Amino acid sequence: MKGFLACTLRTTASWLLVSAVAVAAAPAMAAATPPQMGFNNWNSTHCRDEFDEGMIRGIADKFISLGLKDAGYRFVNIDDCWASWQRGKDGKLQANPKRFPSGIKALADYIHQRGLKFGLYSSAGTSTCEPLKENRGFPGGLGHEKQDAATYASWGVDYLKYDNCNNQKIDAHKRYTDMAEALRSTGRPIFYSMCEWGENKPWLWAGKPPVDAQSWRTTGDITDTYASMLKIFKENVVLDSYATPGHWNDPDMLEVGNGGMTDVEYRSHFSLWSIMAAPLLIGTDLRTIKPDALQILLNKEVIAVDQDPLGKQGHQVRDADGIHVIVKPLKDGSRAVAVFNETDASHDVAINAAEIGLKAGQYNVRDLWQHSDAKGDGSLKVSLPAHATVVYRIVKL
Ligand code: GLA
Repeated sequence: MKGFLACTLRTTASWLLVSAVAVAAAPAMAAATPPQMGFNNWNSTHCRDEFDEGMIRGIADKFISLGLKDAGYRFVNIDDCWASWQRGKDGKLQANPKRFPSGIKALADYIHQRGLKFGLYSSAGTSTCEPLKENRGFPGGLGHEKQDAATYASWGVDYLKYDNCNNQKIDAHKRYTDMAEALRSTGRPIFYSMCEWGENKPWLWAGKPPVDAQSWRTTGDITDTYASMLKIFKENVVLDSYATPGHWNDPDMLEVGNGGMTDVEYRSHFSLWSIMAAPLLIGTDLRTIKPDALQILLNKEVIAVDQDPLGKQGHQVRDADGIHVIVKPLKDGSRAVAVFNETDASHDVAINAAEIGLKAGQYNVRDLWQHSDAKGDGSLKVSLPAHATVVYRIVKL
């Protein structure tokens, strides 16, 4: 309150001076952060015992040996259940000694030594989401923001996923602002990934100061089923106007490779997340991933659509009879187009060039899954099997 009063008492003239100095001192605008790419253990392990430092080190190694780092995946993130049930005597968070006997700093160092970045999880509540044990959960960040942010920075954390459980019904804007400010005050750049499940329409406020989060979850949790993926896609695809460069809608992590969907469905999942400029966080155990799933995650042409520096989320131009057409303008003037058949039967789909915003002319249409080119007026005809998606990159000749 004191700070607020002090601010309001400043004269307009001093405000102008302050902003002029800020503008003069500001470094050249850094490029906006593209949607985060990496790994998070939650979808594959949940809280099971296999989630430990050996696993996470193994995942970091796989980033290199499987070519994922080369494809742009950077963050190795750990989710709920990493912490000890209790804070230390000094109030500091501490790692669960069974899962992470070497400590979190050592794990972060291991990941950094491989040129990767490290992410951690907490909740904007009194405890995290995992069910209570002995009447207490893992400690959450509510009321401990400054101390926890300082701990994260001292451990070398590059990313915080900040969940919404046990929030004591305190205003979300306040809770997420408090952690945002604590993170900034550490002076260490920490990617801020809000996980508030879309409950308070974070797309309206989370990407702007004072929160200024890089991403915010728009939906509840994904599960490894086609129905879940479809539901979440539909909730997120209509939010395209709220995504801006460096501030992304997050429809939750990938399930590709976890076995509950067919390869056709996983290709749709990956295509739809990419055309929606969503975070690409691998949620399967890379130490045992099957070649077909890996091939999906390594499709660099589809990844380039997700990461395109223009920073637009694709816009749905058709949603009729179970056919979805989504168009994403790209920095080089071309556009990506995804056509998705949500139905259980195959469909022939025709799309004229005007529907996807193309003027009369000659275009090259590149199929980003077949890696093949065709020339034409930009209109599309495709026969789509049930649950399948095609993605094109269309450029004027
Ligand atoms: C919530 C989040 C999930 C995961 C779990 C962990 O459900 O939405 O993504 O982090 O908590 O408990």
